[in-house]
Amino acid sequence: MVKSSLSDQTIEAFNIPEFKGTLEQQQAIKELYKQFTITTERARIIVNQFIKEMRKGLDHEGATVAMIPSFVTGRPTGNEKGKYLALDLGGTNLRVCEFELKGDGEFAVRQQKYIIAEEYKTDEMRQLCDFIADCVDNFITEHDPSGRNNGNEQLQLGFTFSFPVNQTAINRGTLMHWTKGFNCSGAINKDVVIMLQDSFLRKNIHVNIAALVNDTVGTLMANAYRYPETTMGIILGTGTNAAYYEKLENIKKWNGNEEVFEEMIVNMEWGAFDRERCVLPLTIYDNKLDRESINPHEQLFEKMMSGMYLGEIARNAILHLVDSRLLFEGESAYDLNRQWGFETSYMSIIIGDNTDDLEEVRHILEEVLQIPSTTLGDRQMVQSICLAIGRRSAYLATCGIAGVLSHTGKLEQDSLIAIDGSVYEFFPNFEHHMKQALGEIFGNDITKRVKFNLARDGSGFGAAMIAMMAHKVALAKNP
Ligand code: GLC
Repeated sequence: MVKSSLSDQTIEAFNIPEFKGTLEQQQAIKELYKQFTITTERARIIVNQFIKEMRKGLDHEGATVAMIPSFVTGRPTGNEKGKYLALDLGGTNLRVCEFELKGDGEFAVRQQKYIIAEEYKTDEMRQLCDFIADCVDNFITEHDPSGRNNGNEQLQLGFTFSFPVNQTAINRGTLMHWTKGFNCSGAINKDVVIMLQDSFLRKNIHVNIAALVNDTVGTLMANAYRYPETTMGIILGTGTNAAYYEKLENIKKWNGNEEVFEEMIVNMEWGAFDRERCVLPLTIYDNKLDRESINPHEQLFEKMMSGMYLGEIARNAILHLVDSRLLFEGESAYDLNRQWGFETSYMSIIIGDNTDDLEEVRHILEEVLQIPSTTLGDRQMVQSICLAIGRRSAYLATCGIAGVLSHTGKLEQDSLIAIDGSVYEFFPNFEHHMKQALGEIFGNDITKRVKFNLARDGSGFGAAMIAMMAHKVALAKNP
């Protein structure tokens, strides 16, 4: 076996102290590195295209990047008070929470997670709504929020529904299409609030859906409660998306209502970016994933970047090397052969393994995935693949951020960006790679002015706050 070292650039990017594989493996990993690297030039091309697509979305309906007005116009003051329910659907679990806003940017929360069985994700929408209603009922019974349940007082709820919804009012919106593996029948073009409210009514649950909120919008509002200077909310979790404050005069497609306001949060639905495949450097591993997914040709940006998909891209790349007889002596294993069999969560552990022998990588490959045996070179290769895919995700997310910062003309000012989601939170060095990408695109002076803030589980809290604001407006109009 010929021992060799990777090139300096690769070592720096992948942080491999000394590569122990064969020369052929080294060649293969360099090739992979090339395929998954977003060069500065490519990043700038993506950013420019992103800005164009944003404008199209703001100008007219039906654009690839939907740029959906959220009907959230105000900024929180931090002094909001009261108790509100929040419901969060769209990630791995369903979450029901009760928030007590205490003013001064403080709050208390009680929450419960419910696992959504796979069949609910593809069954009839009515079944899913009934299941959600049962979870809310269970939460109210168990926790009896505020002790108000006995008095039959209607509880106000903010519904975080993290899918592309064409919002028609703060508490109304029709589903445009499903993402992230959901595919319930009888939901497209239907108002999701009416459907869920109907389940509450049928089950005699005294809850009013006061606001319909995307998770990015909730994350932005939640962070703004504490830090009013927050300009953007981003999710880098199961899926990916962003929301930001846009000036009304720039939302050309807004055909307005009588309310006067200067700015509104826009839910971008950036996961749909580049459906036309103009600028994203898709690899064969991405194309295979897309072809085999339940929504081929859709959400390509999201598929290259978010937690639902990164493990599958890695699996495709690993299997390609197995089939080329460059990994595990050409041997695979049951889970590795199975679609979604390589979980994205393995990648954070693999990337984070600093041991000399890559003991944690070995554990995942040999014990969890049951690959008969691995060499240190094999493990280094798998680690490099995970790193390359994670790093690409960070670079792509940054291209989106750079697009928004350029579009809003915020480059010369300080920006505070709230980010939530497992990929951002758990992938080692993710933020570091984002900063690196930002530096390459804009230079260090601008990069220094941009701050990222982990807004863990912010979307539910944001939804509760938006429900409160909406409920107050509704009461004022209709006491
Ligand atoms: C998907 C959804 C979007 C959501 C994002 C993050 O892209 O379409 O609405 O914000 O996932 O959860």
